Amino acid sequence: MPLCTLREVLDHARAGGYGVGAFNVTDAEQVEAVLEAARRTGSPVIVQTISGASAFASDELYWDLLLRTVDHYDDVPVVVHLDHGPDAQTCFRAIDAGFSSVMIDGSLDPVTHQPTTFDANIEVTREVVAYARRHGVSVEGELGTIGGSKDGATHAEIVLADPEEAAEFVARTDVDALAVAIGTSHGAYKFTSPPDSSVLHMDLIEEIARLIPTTHLVMHGSSSLPADLREIINAHGGGLPESWGVPEVEKARSTQLGVTKINQGMDSHMAYAAAMRTTMAGDPLAADPAPAARAGSAAMADMIAERMAVFGQAGRARDYAPRVFRSPAALPL
Ligand code: 13P
Repeated sequence: MPLCTLREVLDHARAGGYGVGAFNVTDAEQVEAVLEAARRTGSPVIVQTISGASAFASDELYWDLLLRTVDHYDDVPVVVHLDHGPDAQTCFRAIDAGFSSVMIDGSLDPVTHQPTTFDANIEVTREVVAYARRHGVSVEGELGTIGGSKDGATHAEIVLADPEEAAEFVARTDVDALAVAIGTSHGAYKFTSPPDSSVLHMDLIEEIARLIPTTHLVMHGSSSLPADLREIINAHGGGLPESWGVPEVEKARSTQLGVTKINQGMDSHMAYAAAMRTTMAGDPLAADPAPAARAGSAAMADMIAERMAVFGQAGRARDYAPRVFRSPAALPL
């Protein structure tokens, strides 16, 4: 199955002056939601998933389902990306499964969840880049620590990225994209009030982009945490705390400062959960989860389609030269 690489899609975005949303998925209906939104809006798109995030016991089984679902959307330029690979082995497994892009998150120790040294981060990232290059796969690295929780269990403190270190990191690893910590955090709890420049360091993006102009910058923790969705979830048994995320206007602005990849997981999941909870609550006899999952998937597709317009990727599939990636089996090692 030919996919697009992250490098190809983000190079196209940079040339066109727009950003591409990378949407986190944890089941097959969510993959369908992302691809439906991309098809509806004529967008290139990045579908991403974290190892162990699905309900399946086996990553390989879920990843296979994900890739098979993508097969049904030949008309959409798609990157399938591993988000936050915790170690080299997990990245190798995703590459072997057929992903066209992986992230190695060498900024945190996978066991202790404490920040690693700069050199240790570089070492593991280089190992992944070497393997990925042999398979024609793109690599995203991470510098600094994006706050919040990736897995819902552990919480990291924010450590902002250092521009000089970013330049050295890229020179020594040759990553295609770099996640730079600029004050955002993952998950449903981010800021206690609407964020200003004292928490969201947009100036850092500009500074880093100037130093590494051919490396793509990634904004993690980009969800806005819409209050209306939080209210629906909480009115149906949820308990999400009041919190502010990254405003849409800042996400759009980031694409003009140097960001080409915008990561969104929580907003998509809030849209899905709000529709799912409402549907289940509306039918006291509901036992089969399919109608609720269908409603969740439709709501998620609508939200993602709106975001695609904000990021600027809507309509960009038209002038796109997709499908250059060849699966690992087709490439000489
Ligand atoms: P959110 O938690 O803000 O949706 O960010 C997702 C993300 O950055 C995944 O890497």
